[in-house]
Amino acid sequence: MATSEERGDASHESPQPRAAGSAHGPPGADGGWESLASRPPFYAAARRPAAHSLCVASGKGGVGKTAVAASLAQLFARLGSTLIVDGDLGVGNAHILQDVQPERHLGDVVCGRVSLRDALVSCEPHLDLVCGGSGLPHLAHLEPSERRLLALGLADVQRDYRAMLVDCGAGVSDQTLDFAEGSDGTLLVTTPDVTALTDAYAFYKVLLARQPDALVWLVVNRAQDAAEAQRVLERFEHVSRRFLGASPKGIGWIPDDPAVRAAVNRRRAVVRAEPTSPSSRALAELFARLVRELSAREPAGLGTRLSELSTRPRRLGA
Ligand SMILES: Nc1ncnc2c1ncn2[C@@H]1O[C@H](COP(=O)(O)OP(=O)(O)OP(=O)(O)O)[C@@H](O)[C@H]1O
Ligand SMILES: [Mg+2]
Repeated sequence: MATSEERGDASHESPQPRAAGSAHGPPGADGGWESLASRPPFYAAARRPAAHSLCVASGKGGVGKTAVAASLAQLFARLGSTLIVDGDLGVGNAHILQDVQPERHLGDVVCGRVSLRDALVSCEPHLDLVCGGSGLPHLAHLEPSERRLLALGLADVQRDYRAMLVDCGAGVSDQTLDFAEGSDGTLLVTTPDVTALTDAYAFYKVLLARQPDALVWLVVNRAQDAAEAQRVLERFEHVSRRFLGASPKGIGWIPDDPAVRAAVNRRRAVVRAEPTSPSSRALAELFARLVRELSAREPAGLGTRLSELSTRPRRLGA
């Protein structure tokens, strides 16, 4: 598999991230993002704000987190420099949909072998990736010193980007919950299947126990039609509100679409491979809503937040 460098793409000569929000202005996108970056006087006078961060998570595996994150990252990259963090530590595969084969990964970062900055891979203009490492199960449970190195690495680069997307592993591992709590918001992905919904509910419940004011958006992937997605969102909201006293915000749905699978087989995000497909149109709508939601919030800085969390002892069962 050729990396962007092997393909000889001049725009990928350096694996270093490009400075975010530079000359490459976003082409005609939702104004929220831009207006946030140029908002005086705070941002004008201070250093560039940290990137907005979005954690893409699920209860059950295989519901489409990586496919959704890959497409959203492509869309975010049109607005400004974007970093995908493969948060599936040890068994990451986010690099596949970017068609790159990183030589360094977060396993190298958390053991101090390389800096996170040196583990960045340029996928295409304005889109970088830090790989999760593959076939390294010991990374599923990070030691405190490893969490700290990960947090410091992300803090070091968080001002180089406009957006950071964490493509998490499924379930309620400590690391995923850290990413969810450390991000400005979490996109919880489910399919309409009852098993996926049950696990999504469990994820939400565990996250709320750790972070009662967690900001979570729910998206239904692989829905047959709008009516099915609506039923799922309403049911989830009803049950969550009743038993947990809070509910994720339904933010959209993506149809079950053979174009996604075809794109995955070509190692591409569907919005890039099949931009006019039904799923790509739905992802564009989802993206626009997420930009509006995120732009209304000050970015906390994923690395900064993870750093704070890394000094907090892990709670049993959390
Ligand atoms: N909207 C969709 N329509 C059709 N197929 C889809 C859709 N979304 C995802 N898929 C398919 O589902 C499979 C699993 O997707 P993906 O790898 O993104 O899931 P995941 O949640 O990241 O899995 P894991 O939990 O293992 O990380 C992929 O092969 C993809 O082709
Ligand atoms: Mg995945």
